[in-house]
This record gives sequence, structure tokens and C-alpha cells, in this order.
Amino acid sequence: MDKLGTMHFCALVLIGSWSVMGVAQESAADFSEGRALFESYQCWQCHGYQGQGGSAGVRIAPTIYPFEAFLQLVRHTNLMPAYSPNVLSDENLRRIYEYVRSIPEPPALEDIQKLSLY
Ligand code: HEC
Repeated sequence: MDKLGTMHFCALVLIGSWSVMGVAQESAADFSEGRALFESYQCWQCHGYQGQGGSAGVRIAPTIYPFEAFLQLVRHTNLMPAYSPNVLSDENLRRIYEYVRSIPEPPALEDIQKLSLY
């Protein structure tokens, strides 16, 4: 590669890493905002901090629902108090949804050593 080619290559690598860093920072910020909303709207009270569910609410994370389905479930439920758009905007619900989506799959029971008898 000649000198000019090397400079172009370095510039591309730099631009590439800036944009990757930008995306990573943006998504981390989005999830923390969604988590804060998940807490302030009391979702955790019934669904747990990790959306793992409990005696008062079903497991909601990880979720396979697309946003539209998630929104319908939160707006029109039977047992859960429905959150109207006046109380919880679509925009904030999307942030909550993105936080719930970011929660990773838990490890399989057999992979948790403390639960293993042998
Ligand atoms: C007072 C307890 C309570 C609170 C607070 C609560 N939920 Fe629920 N949620 C439930 C219960 C109970 C169900 C099961 C509803 C049913 O089957 O009719 C449910 C169901 C859901 C479902 C559908 C799950 C499924 O697979 O059927 C979603 C999604 C959900 N809740 C999200 C949320 C979000 C997001 C919040 C906060 C904005 C929230 N919930 C706050 C009790 C609660």
C-alpha cells in the first residue's frame, strides 16, 4: 500500500471506530433511561427488576414480542392495571421496551454451579 493508500485506510478505520463507539454509547444511554422508567412506572413491583416475574406478575424478559404487541399488552390487560397513553407515553413505553429487550437470556439451570448437587 502506498503512503496515500495507508492514510485513506487509517482514516476509514478511525471513522469506523468512531461510529461503533457512538452506537454503543447511544444504546447504553437508551437502556439506562428505559430502566429508570421501568422503575419509576413500578413495572418492577410485579415483574421484578430483571423482568423475571414473581408472585404478582408474569415473566416479561427476555421478550420475543415486537414493540406493537408489547404496547397492546401494556395498554389492554386483564389482571394488570392498564397504562393509558395519558399516564405512559408511547415514547417512554418504547424506552421501557428497549430496556426489557436488552435483558439477556438467563443461564440454563445446569450451568449454575451453586444449584448443582454434584
Ligand atoms: C400491579 C402489578 C403489575 C404492574 C405494576 C405491571 N404489571 Fe405487567 N402484568 C401484570 C400481570 C398480573 C400480568 C398478566 C396479565 C394478564 O394475563 O392479564 C402482566 C402482563 C404484562 C405483559 C404481558 C406479558 C405476557 O407475555 O402476556 C407485559 C408486556 C407487561 N405486563 C409489561 C409491564 C410493564 C412494561 C409495566 C410497567 C409500565 C408493567 N407491566 C407493570 C402485573 C403488573
